[in-house]
Amino acid sequence: METLECIRTRRSIRAYTDQQVEMEKIGNVLDAGRLAPSAGNLQAWKFILVTSDSSRKAIAEACMQQFWMEQAPIHIIICSEREKVERMYDKKEVLYSTQNCAVAAENMLLAAHDQGLGACLVCAIEEAAVRRLMKLPDSVVPEAIITLGYADEEPEPVPKYYIDNVTFIEKWGNRVTDMAEFLGYHSHKIPETIKQVKKAIKKKLKK
Ligand SMILES: Cc1cc2nc3c(=O)[nH]c(=O)nc-3n(C[C@H](O)[C@H](O)[C@H](O)COP(=O)(O)O)c2cc1C
Repeated sequence: METLECIRTRRSIRAYTDQQVEMEKIGNVLDAGRLAPSAGNLQAWKFILVTSDSSRKAIAEACMQQFWMEQAPIHIIICSEREKVERMYDKKEVLYSTQNCAVAAENMLLAAHDQGLGACLVCAIEEAAVRRLMKLPDSVVPEAIITLGYADEEPEPVPKYYIDNVTFIEKWGNRVTDMAEFLGYHSHKIPETIKQVKKAIKKKLKK
């Protein structure tokens, strides 16, 4: 899949089929995380691959009882190695630990979608519980969990702000009157519009 298409069509998936995920695909997701940018190229992360039913059940419970997570055949726990970052950057830059993991997580989400898998990033984590379950050392923090599997839903895209809403030019608050014109940015909408029209026609024909 083309990169921009992958970014534009990814959705958070919270319902999964029983279908096993091929090891090669899981490997590609882990590899995408490993290759993410990181502050000072420290790569201060570890990924825990969790497949057992009992562990996934316990993890779902430890994520504020998000029981839908159990259904996903794979969980990947993204952990930061805080000590490494603190040693290099001093304690005030500890935020880098979390930022590194967030970047790795997005790479993984896109690698999943690119391979026809569904995934969701979960950060509502009861840290102490996950720490206990995964036997994490004190210096390691569970930053995020990725659920992975074959999607059993096709969610509509959630609303997102337009570029105009989230972009200023040169300084804070400075907007242009026509952002699409400014960016010469119309053609990207054509494939998406065609897809939406096709979907609408299909829906109508079904009825
Ligand atoms: C930092 C962060 C934390 C998130 N935590 C959760 C979570 O705990 N549970 C969940 O179901 N989704 C979680 N999500 C997924 C968001 O709900 C989702 O990305 C958002 O609603 C936009 O939908 P989309 O991913 O389909 O574009 C999280 C996303 C981010 C970036």
